[in-house]
Amino acid sequence: MKVQVCIIGGGPSGLLLSQLLHLQGIDTIVLEKYSRDHVLARIRAGVLEHGFARLMREAQCGERMDREGEIHKGFHIAHDGVLDHVDLHKYSGGNSVIVYGQTELTRDLYEARDRLGGKVVHNVEDVTLHDLKSGAPFVTYRSGDQTIRIDCEYVVGADGFHGVSRKSIPPDVLREYEKVYPFGWLGVLSRTRPVSPELVYAKHERGFALCSLRSQVLSRYYIQVPLTDKPEEWPDDAFWAELKRRLPEEVAGRLITGPSIEKSIAPLRSFVAEPMQYGRLFLAGDAAHIVPPTGARGLNSAASDIYYLYHALSAHYKKGDDTGLDGYSQKALARVWKAQRFSWWMTTMLHRFPDRIPYDDHLQQTELSYLFSSETAMRLLAENYVGLPF
Ligand code: APR
Ligand code: PHB
Repeated sequence: MKVQVCIIGGGPSGLLLSQLLHLQGIDTIVLEKYSRDHVLARIRAGVLEHGFARLMREAQCGERMDREGEIHKGFHIAHDGVLDHVDLHKYSGGNSVIVYGQTELTRDLYEARDRLGGKVVHNVEDVTLHDLKSGAPFVTYRSGDQTIRIDCEYVVGADGFHGVSRKSIPPDVLREYEKVYPFGWLGVLSRTRPVSPELVYAKHERGFALCSLRSQVLSRYYIQVPLTDKPEEWPDDAFWAELKRRLPEEVAGRLITGPSIEKSIAPLRSFVAEPMQYGRLFLAGDAAHIVPPTGARGLNSAASDIYYLYHALSAHYKKGDDTGLDGYSQKALARVWKAQRFSWWMTTMLHRFPDRIPYDDHLQQTELSYLFSSETAMRLLAENYVGLPF
């Protein structure tokens, strides 16, 4: 088979790019390791920057997001017994975010690919990238006892942190930057009414907590835990009791608890791979970078990669202009590192580090007191949270 662009990975990044390119008449195929049900069973955050929302609409996938997603114009930070508000709308010049579960967003992308007859192949095995430095790269994968070859002009590696694409860049070319945090997030999903209409991030001496939501009947909560903890060590009652301890009384008193329908622990990591291109291979999303979830930048930093690749590949095929492709890695990384900085800043400001010293405690308190006493500091937070320009 021959296509113009072979995309490895049927997560949000790969699907969104495939949809956008299809609408420009560019022929793609998406190769996904798992079944669609497996991909859609993943529980992921869903705070969408306004730029991501625009891209979903441009991809003809924004209708349910606009109907069911919630526009959030601010969020709260609980610290030192007080609940302070971050007015995103005021300090970002009128922008906001949409809270819409990534599972639903990915479902919308799959259904949009179906509507256009997009080629998505599931359960592919042993995906291998070949001749990336040539003008005629190709990809092979195994399906049962058959080896399939896909000839293409470009390969996009949207196969996440554990994918094969980044590992296809020679070790003497690839540079990786990683920061692993000494704690994880224990997350619980419950069919309960959210404790707050807006998100509540909490800094507490017992550790970080976050109150989020998927809808008005589906709540998502997190507490910082040691990396040695296991979900089975946290019965629901223990989780709810610990969450309440880390919230101001005015919030904890309103908390509606219920059985967890999902409970898991995620480690926190900052990671960037450079360059994000090698010959005819372009990396996008989690394949190239990971952020701790504190700043809700994961999916959003994938969106800017997709935006740049969409415009670069469209310019190549429509105008023979390769400026975007030649400059993709540099342009994408400039925004990726800003998302890294913001995620690191939010994480450092709000978490209890095991190796902290009293000086660190004062720095955290100073960050927060400066934030809530300076319109400049608030504008800095707001413009990053709603999304920097692509
Ligand atoms: N071959 C084919 N597909 C693969 C391979 C492989 N070797 N390895 C991984 N994949 C698939 C995974 O099964 C997954 O569905 O690639 C997809 C990558 O999707 P994500 O990990 O979701 O990454 P991305 O699409 O970049 O989305 C980034 O989604 O996962 C969240 O936290 C992440 O919010 C971030 C956003
Ligand atoms: C979530 O709803 O899962 C979520 C929201 C905001 C974050 C992280 C996770 O910063």
